[in-house]
Amino acid sequence: MARTNTQIFLANRPPNDGAIDPKLGATFDQRRVPVPEQLPADSVLIEVKYLSCDPAMRGWLRDARSYLPPVQIGETMRAAGLGVVVASTSSAFQVGDEVSATTGWQTHAVMPAKQVEKLPKREGAELIDALGVLGSSGMTGYWGLFDVAGLKGGEVVVVTGAAGSVGSVVVQLAKLKGCTVIATAGSDDKVRWLKEELGADAAFNYKSPTFSADLKKCCQKEYKFVDVVFDNVGGEQLDALLLCLRRYARIALCGAISDYNRAPAGLRNYQTLIAMEAKIQGFIVFTYASRYEEARQQLAKWIGEGKLKRNFCYAEGGILGTPQALVDLFSGVNKGKMVVPL
Ligand SMILES: NC(=O)c1ccc[n+]([C@@H]2O[C@H](COP(=O)([O-])OP(=O)(O)OC[C@H]3O[C@@H](n4cnc5c(N)ncnc54)[C@H](OP(=O)(O)O)[C@@H]3O)[C@@H](O)[C@H]2O)c1
Repeated sequence: MARTNTQIFLANRPPNDGAIDPKLGATFDQRRVPVPEQLPADSVLIEVKYLSCDPAMRGWLRDARSYLPPVQIGETMRAAGLGVVVASTSSAFQVGDEVSATTGWQTHAVMPAKQVEKLPKREGAELIDALGVLGSSGMTGYWGLFDVAGLKGGEVVVVTGAAGSVGSVVVQLAKLKGCTVIATAGSDDKVRWLKEELGADAAFNYKSPTFSADLKKCCQKEYKFVDVVFDNVGGEQLDALLLCLRRYARIALCGAISDYNRAPAGLRNYQTLIAMEAKIQGFIVFTYASRYEEARQQLAKWIGEGKLKRNFCYAEGGILGTPQALVDLFSGVNKGKMVVPL
């Protein structure tokens, strides 16, 4: 019997200074199409098992110049996915292979073999790690911290958005490097998790009325300023941290989720960069694609040794739950990596 592929596509762009509407028929909508019976040459048919939800997807909905072209109206939403090959016309893939690819938000994906990556078995790791520590989040944390920020052992590091997918990796990598870690997140439960489970030396809830004063006191007085900021959040938190830099500090500008749904207000304290001869550098993880395997081998070794904890937040609703899962990233529902199991 013919199989059906359910796709979630972009129906309407959200306003640049507003949120995505998760109801189907608003920002996104669904359609059901037949899974092709015949595959093109050198292709695979993937039955998708897990889909990714990432804050970057908010940016892909904007009709603006960026590192990737915007998703077009009517196009299946771009997303990373993990799944199993169920048909193949490629000599490189067999039925049953576990793979990752930019499948998009759909239940079945026909992909050219060259755009699909076979996932090797790694001791201690699970398939789903390919969306977390061994996937884009881990690559972002690893290269952002060690290459962009050039973290050295014994330094003082601040990680914003620390309980999320990238942030929770960065906190642990910095601790493995022997650094002091100050973390920020959006709930007392996340703050506890960061300190008690992931090893952060200090952590602060940015929703507390005393957050800014507490963070500055910790960074400026207790730790005598900081060497590295790994920033996932931007906005007010980044602005406050500009006042906490040591001489020659480095800021790795990974993300700015606090400004993704609004018009950014700008940074008032940027002159500290001059006074402290500090550097601020944005980066895109794809730049490091040729070095992913180097990072994966190290990260998989730490997973195998039990040195890296991973946490997943499983969204509900299957393929139809993808828009809500994306919106939930903006209210901080997730601790660790948000995934949609199909
Ligand atoms: N440069 C790159 O190549 C690259 C690659 C991957 C990701 N990123 C960026 O890295 C950041 C983290 O991505 P991720 O995949 O790890 O997502 P994530 O942190 O797992 O999820 C997003 C988190 O952001 C926090 N958040 C939401 N709204 C916020 C606000 N207004 N202020 C402060 N925090 C807020 C929420 O946690 P709370 O409960 O703490 O609010 C939420 O859990 C994002 O900015 C993303 O765009 C960049």
